[in-house]
Amino acid sequence: RVFADRTEASRTLALEVAALVRAINDSGRSAVLGLATGRTPLPFYAELIRLHEQGELSFAQVITFNLDEYLGLAGEHPESYRAFMSRELFDHVDIPAENIHIPDGTVSPEDLSAHCAAYEAAIRNAGGIDFQLLGIGRTGHIGFNEPGSPRDSRTRKVELDPITRQDAAPAFGGLDQVPEHAISMGCGTILEARKIALLAWGKAKATIVREALTGPVTDQVSASFLQEHADATFYLDAEAGSEL
Ligand code: GLP
Repeated sequence: RVFADRTEASRTLALEVAALVRAINDSGRSAVLGLATGRTPLPFYAELIRLHEQGELSFAQVITFNLDEYLGLAGEHPESYRAFMSRELFDHVDIPAENIHIPDGTVSPEDLSAHCAAYEAAIRNAGGIDFQLLGIGRTGHIGFNEPGSPRDSRTRKVELDPITRQDAAPAFGGLDQVPEHAISMGCGTILEARKIALLAWGKAKATIVREALTGPVTDQVSASFLQEHADATFYLDAEAGSEL
């Protein structure tokens, strides 16, 4: 779906997600949302906050799982995804702290695989992800599933692609400050979500969006796996959709 601009796309999706949360809550259970970071979801989170302030969306019965976290960063680090989520969404809505799940970037090497397994188990115990939000990296990654990530990969330690680290360098104040590894949900974890929306804005994403949507399904572009999902939609602005 190509929109005039990112505000219109974000507003449309926010209304859809709010309706989904209400419908799931009305059926008597919590809604489980998979959330993403990066610059792309910012206007979407702003719309969710607006709906919350207008009394149209409560997070009291929402459980969230974030896609990923930089390995080595504590939640207090301003570039950690934990800090990002607090700043951009959680501090502004009524979500109970215990409903928030983000991989722990400070986990020790010995505890890492148990931590990842526990993250997968927590998703399962919550009943699976109802709605998964995604951005897309220039390498075609979803979460931090860089080229070569298998279709059935699960939450694990990943090595960041040099392009991904370069793109993150300005925010970190230099390439040498960017972590080399992250913990990320796998492609398999993401593809199990019942409904998925991938957001992309701007000319810089147009080529990778085209490859993901119309190129071969390949582990070299993990977003291309979405072609095989039963309910995945790309929400694009005109620039990101300009090569389709
Ligand atoms: C990071 C995140 C991804 C995000 C990507 C794009 O790599 N782990 O989830 O999609 O950046 O970032 P941006 O939205 O800032 O372009």
